[in-house]
This record gives sequence, C-alpha cells and structure tokens, in this order.
Amino acid sequence: MNQILNVSRDAFSSGQVGSKLWLCQELETLFESADNIWIYGGWYGVMAFLLNSRSNMSIGQIRSYDVDPSCEAIADMINENWVIDNWKFKAHTEDCNQLNPSQNSPDLIINTSTEHFESMDWWHNIPQDTVVALQGNNMIHDDHHIHSRCLQEFVAQFPVTTTLYTGQKEFVYPNWRFTRYMLIGVK
Ligand SMILES: C[S@@+](CC[C@H](N)C(=O)[O-])C[C@H]1O[C@@H](n2cnc3c(N)ncnc32)[C@H](O)[C@@H]1O
Repeated sequence: MNQILNVSRDAFSSGQVGSKLWLCQELETLFESADNIWIYGGWYGVMAFLLNSRSNMSIGQIRSYDVDPSCEAIADMINENWVIDNWKFKAHTEDCNQLNPSQNSPDLIINTSTEHFESMDWWHNIPQDTVVALQGNNMIHDDHHIHSRCLQEFVAQFPVTTTLYTGQKEFVYPNWRFTRYMLIGVK
C-alpha cells in the first residue's frame, strides 16, 4: 500500500545535500573503510544514503539516531536497500545525549546537526580515540542552540587530539546565503 509521508523538503535542499556531499568527499579522502558508523541527529538518513550510494568507502554498518520519532520510518524507507541487506543501515529513535558509544565502539561518529543539540552530553560521552566528523553553520534560527560566527569558533567547541580536516563552505543563493563549517578529527 502506498503511503504519503510527511517530510520536510529542507532535508533535500541544495544546502543540506551539498553539505553532506562535501562531508562524503572529505571522509573518502581520509578513510578507505569504516566498520561501524553512528550518525547523530540523522534526520531522514540522507547522510547515510549518500555515503552508501557513492560506494567510495567500504562500510560495515551505519546506525542513525534521531530524537524525533517521525524520522525512523522515513530514514529506514530511504535506506531500505541497506536495511534489507543484513541491517547495514538502521535508524533508531534515541536522544543522542543519552547514548553511550563506549559500549558499542563505533569507529566513526558523524553529527551534521550540532547546532540543534540542546546539551553537549552527546559530545562528552564520545570516548577518546573515536573519529568524529562534525558540521555546524552560521545560520540564526529559533531551533538552533549553537551559533558559530566563524570556523575557529565552531572548531573550538569540539576539542580533538588530532585534527584531520577543518574547512568551511559558502552556500550562496539568490535570496540568502550561509556558511557551513566542518571538523574531522580524533577525539
Ligand atoms: C533539522 S535536522 C538536521 C539539520 C542538519 N543541518 C543536517 O544536515 O543534518 C536536526 C535534527 O537533529 C535532531 N536532534 C536534535 N536534538 C537531538 C538529540 N538530542 N538527539 C537526537 N537527535 C536530535 C532533530 O530531531 C532533527 O531531526
């Protein structure tokens, strides 16, 4: 039976998809493989869909966590090709501030939603030596808890022992523009 799903168009906008493609490109430059990727604030699973579709990294499994319960079924639908392939993808409804990655040893944690997180517990709970790939931006929104005015300000919030990549990307449209920041490093 066909079902009409209520999705936010923004998840598929140029700014969102372009930012995630940029993250894919930088990860693929740094790593040939990752066994167990966790995505925080995974929304509809577009990040996972792009990483898996591009096939430039060998990926064991991806787990996508979002506190919004409406995301799980949509993320699983978009990533069904990998859900049915021995659970290479699965979305879960979870508050990432309550997750304890030290029990499951993800080798890469991605968070492209850092500005949406109310607390930094998710960051404090990530064990040392875990590779992290994080994005933020300079947009001012009611539902953004973090506003980074520049790359240095963004990066300073997430101290890593080894910096593998930092950069910023401008997204310019006829009516508006914003800057996305990115940090990849070893915590
Ligand atoms: C608007 S979306 C994503 C925006 C981001 N720029 C991106 O590309 O992924 C932000 C997501 O973060 C999720 N989120 C916010 N706080 C969270 C938390 N504590 N745990 C899990 N997900 C959370 C929201 O439910 C939402 O789906």
